[in-house]
Amino acid sequence: MHRVHDNLFNGIIALPSFPVVFVTVDRNIMVAAAFHFYSFCPPSVMVGIKPEKYTYELISKKKEFGINIPTKDQLDKIHICGSISGRHEDKYKIADLTPKKGNKIDSYIIEECPVSLECKVVHQIEYEGSHKWFIGEIKEVHIDDEYVRDSALMFWLGQFRTVGEVIEGASNSELLR
Ligand SMILES: Cc1cc2nc3c(=O)[nH]c(=O)nc-3n(C[C@H](O)[C@H](O)[C@H](O)COP(=O)(O)O)c2cc1C
Repeated sequence: MHRVHDNLFNGIIALPSFPVVFVTVDRNIMVAAAFHFYSFCPPSVMVGIKPEKYTYELISKKKEFGINIPTKDQLDKIHICGSISGRHEDKYKIADLTPKKGNKIDSYIIEECPVSLECKVVHQIEYEGSHKWFIGEIKEVHIDDEYVRDSALMFWLGQFRTVGEVIEGASNSELLR
């Protein structure tokens, strides 16, 4: 039976999980689950960052960011980069991750991640919400030959999970060309 909820926040709580990514800009790393594909053509993604984060300040200034997809084995690094601010700390050092200079962006991407996207900000959404969204056009793509999409992580409301079983459609590896 469907029930109307007075608490509108329950509409957010009811949502399924979102992919977890490392957002890199300049020489900083943060974790974001407010991440989504935005457009096929041109290939673009969007990420939602709270304005008090150091990453927000850096992306606003540099107009670029990297999206780095972690694996489930990197949960310890997710906890570090998703809790400490990089304003006074070097998270590459603390999380034992290797910064790799981007080809198309001035910022670093993460060597240990199987997928990294170099993005240039094409639009910043001005809307009075907790997260400020940046749309980034993908300018360079790095994918490890061994990468399988099922190794990525999903997150929502304190719960990490893997992607889950395919119930219809082609196998993931067949889709990458
Ligand atoms: C699983 C997970 C998901 C997160 N998702 C977001 C997010 O989507 N947006 C955001 O602003 N912060 C998010 N955070 C929090 C930031 O990653 C965290 O506050 C980080 O320390 C900010 O670093 P900075 O100050 O160096 O930018 C998330 C943290 C975790 C652990």
